[in-house]
Amino acid sequence: ADSHPTYRQFLNRHVDFPKSGGGNNRLYCNRIMQRRGLTRPVCKPTNTFIHAPTSQVQAICRGAGRCHGRNFCDSNSSFHLTTCRVAPGSRPGRCVYRGRIQTRRIRVACNQRLPVHFSRIL
Ligand SMILES: *[C@@H]1O[C@H](CO)[C@@H](O)[C@H](O)[C@H]1NC(C)=O
Repeated sequence: ADSHPTYRQFLNRHVDFPKSGGGNNRLYCNRIMQRRGLTRPVCKPTNTFIHAPTSQVQAICRGAGRCHGRNFCDSNSSFHLTTCRVAPGSRPGRCVYRGRIQTRRIRVACNQRLPVHFSRIL
């Protein structure tokens, strides 16, 4: 039994450390979106990967972030990120992505002191 299914899902969708594979941002995105199961049943339109150890990402919910609202926390520090965005003409089975790298602070939703949802780049 998985006691933290949404945390597991968050890790699958949003954490890739160390950053996997080589090649350009486009190749990176095409590969990882497929490998992480984000291209079926539809090509997920946009998705951000965080290139940091899970401990650093968890820490946003445990004192290394400024928390507000119901359960949102803004990271104090910046993270290396790759955001993948689907290209026009993509369809399941042939999802094509563009990739953009940034180093920015992020906002996540936390539950039981674990990140469960990637809200946005700040
Ligand atoms: C993060 O920022 C908050 C608000 O400024 C501060 O209270 C907290 O100590 C910081 N955490 C770390 C680990 O720097």
